Amino acid sequence: MAVQQYDVVVIGAGAAGLMCAATAGYRGRSVLLLDHANKAGKKILMSGGGRCNFTNLNTTPDHFLSANPHFCKSALKRYSPWHFVELVERHGVEHVEKAPGQLFCAQSSKEILNLLLTECEWAGVEMRLNTPVSAIRQRGPGFSLRAANADIACDKLVIASGGLSIPTLGASPFGYQVAEQFGLPVLPTRAALVPFTLQPADKAWLSTLSGVSAEVRAQAGGAAFNEPLLITHRGLSGPAMLQVSTFWQPGEAVTVDWLPALADPLQALRQARQEQPSASLEKWLRGVFSQRLAAAFVAHFQWAGPLQHYSNEALANVAAVLKGWSFKPSGTEGYRTAEVTLGGVNTDALSSRTFEVNRVPGLHFIGEVLDVTGQLGGFNFQWAWACGHAAGEAL
Ligand code: FDA
Repeated sequence: MAVQQYDVVVIGAGAAGLMCAATAGYRGRSVLLLDHANKAGKKILMSGGGRCNFTNLNTTPDHFLSANPHFCKSALKRYSPWHFVELVERHGVEHVEKAPGQLFCAQSSKEILNLLLTECEWAGVEMRLNTPVSAIRQRGPGFSLRAANADIACDKLVIASGGLSIPTLGASPFGYQVAEQFGLPVLPTRAALVPFTLQPADKAWLSTLSGVSAEVRAQAGGAAFNEPLLITHRGLSGPAMLQVSTFWQPGEAVTVDWLPALADPLQALRQARQEQPSASLEKWLRGVFSQRLAAAFVAHFQWAGPLQHYSNEALANVAAVLKGWSFKPSGTEGYRTAEVTLGGVNTDALSSRTFEVNRVPGLHFIGEVLDVTGQLGGFNFQWAWACGHAAGEAL
């Protein structure tokens, strides 16, 4: 069979791959975009609860974790959230700012995927789905690949195959394997932006509260976030837990301030004891918590009886639990539900301007496969757009 020749082959039709393919296509390159899945951009469709939190207007390099915190700067600077907003508006996609800086589709994530597919079509990108790549070889200045039943040759090869999170959406270790084949270091990977699972004793009382949420301040690994926490039947989730999961190390404790808006709960409790000595602690808690949460805390910590029965020391203990409850997760839900993968291809091996591998001309890695992980809130897509664009411009 004849070898099919392209200027550029991009492997992975996700957020970064679609952006890169369209950008290179517009620059006149012949581009083939390959994916082993039966659909492009499955994570885009699932993202943001079906509304895709497609960027964050407040994006800075500080919102990303990487062994090399400087690596992301160049691409983020050259393709800002406003560039993507301009693209979104040009395609007539309505959007809303749900939390400060966090832009979501007003209707559906499908609109972001359609926008990218349209861009690829206009840029003349050829896309092949259900096409696994079984072999890659360096061939003179380019590469040859075996993809499904075709032999393909290209001058430039872009690996945009993502991380390990959510295998049912097409995630695979492909990118790390290609990195290893070409001698690039891959930093250890771990599920992030992921719910915590609980030790049996914590699970016993918290799982009865499944569905309850509260605004908390959560801390782990030196990072702290004021966000909602959601109790589920499996453990603790919600933005607060997802955010700290990225900084948490297995075996460490996570600390939760259940009353971040109340600076001095001990003072408030002492005042309540003075003003309403016969009122129960549960009644006071119902003033600051949901009814279910108040009842569960009272039952679990055995905070029965009227406030007048509480010594100053006992009230200090209550305040300490409310401001700094700490738990040791048994683990996380892992890649099955994680939004992203920490670690990955070591960025020291690449140019931060072109995403080309320093020692392998023509080979590029972009997106989540790299050791660059954004916080929750639209930063990961902004990274995908920025590096897809930067690499596309360089091809
Ligand atoms: P991505 O995973 O998007 O694409 C990789 C592509 O490579 C896939 O199409 C896959 O099928 C393909 N592939 C894998 N192995 C292959 C192989 N062997 N051969 C060929 N193709 C292969 N971020 C954000 O900013 N806002 C949000 O709202 C959300 N929400 C969200 C929800 C959920 C449920 C998840 C799982 C994730 C998010 N994220 C997010 C994170 C965001 O989806 C993620 O960071 C980007 O999709 C990463 O883009 P990439 O293109 O690098 O990988």
